[in-house]
Amino acid sequence: GIPRFVKIVEVGPRDGLQNEKTIVPTAVKIELIQRLVSSGLLVVEATSFVSSKWVPQLADAKDVMEAIRNVEGARFPVLTPNLKGFEAAVAAGAKEIAIFASASESFSKSNINCSIEVSLSRYREVAAAAKKLSIPVRGYVSCVVGCPVEGAVPPSKVAHVAKELYDMGCYEISLGDTIGVGTPGTVIPMLEAVMDVVPVDKLAVHFHDTYGQSLPNILISLQMGISTVDSSISGLGGCPYAKGASGNVATEDVVYMLNGLGVKTNVDLTKLLSAGEFICRHLGCQSGSKTAVALGKI
Ligand code: HMG
Ligand code: MG
Repeated sequence: GIPRFVKIVEVGPRDGLQNEKTIVPTAVKIELIQRLVSSGLLVVEATSFVSSKWVPQLADAKDVMEAIRNVEGARFPVLTPNLKGFEAAVAAGAKEIAIFASASESFSKSNINCSIEVSLSRYREVAAAAKKLSIPVRGYVSCVVGCPVEGAVPPSKVAHVAKELYDMGCYEISLGDTIGVGTPGTVIPMLEAVMDVVPVDKLAVHFHDTYGQSLPNILISLQMGISTVDSSISGLGGCPYAKGASGNVATEDVVYMLNGLGVKTNVDLTKLLSAGEFICRHLGCQSGSKTAVALGKI
């Protein structure tokens, strides 16, 4: 059977906006986050405390965090690649953080400029600092089925990195198909390998929709017992260091499918659609959500 409740982790303000060519004004980001919370989303990844030379789109992380830190109803994890980012996040009021490792050496190098092992030792420091302040840490593994440079990534490699993140204290590990190449044919063996070393209730899935495989991949993940799904409003997103990666699966489409399955999410689809319209209007783009496009025509 599939879970009765699915926790959606909305990553649009971070994974979505980090990949937009236009720099979105801080006030628009803040209003987007408020609208997402109003729709009932319980976790909204708000921004990243990374180098603004690497990701200029999120250079206003401090201002965004300070503006939303006291918004009620949701948790607001932020990405921190190292202690410097962690300290800045905490100073701005972050109460939860996320660290992001890769299952592919090449992607680790291009995304965070270091090897997987060096990244894990940095993250051990961050996790230890977070533990002292009782700050929950979410972990990401990227390139869980494929890497833009190396091609297919072995499930054993993904399991190794996921276990390392779990052992350093991450309360949840999000498995990211960064470039969206996975199908149920590759996702199932990957999840089986990870579930051998990390309990399934600690796992989340994070699909990008490059080949239109996100919904089938989410459905089989739910059937395998996973009950946390990352998605992005209007399908915004991608990754600036993964060429050709399209946006994350659209939150509207995930909610539409879960509604159809009778799975609870706490999200009001109508309010979610209006949050999507808001950000698409500001970006001047067509929604990447099929559900939003279909319902917009009525
Ligand atoms: P580096 O150049 O190797 O860092 O970057 P460094 O330690 O040598 O420092 C260089 C400069 O950056 C210094 O400044 C530091 O102070 C500064 P300078 O002296 O030159 O003026 N710096 C920082 N500034 C602000 N915040 C910080 C920070 N750290 C150092 N935290 C670094 C290494 C990790 C910083 C860099 O590569 C970086 O910021 N990378 C971020 C990349 C990123 O955000 N990628 C997207 C997120 S991952 C993703 O999207 C995948 C995911 O969605 C899952 C999936 O889809 O699979 C999560
Ligand atoms: Mg991503």
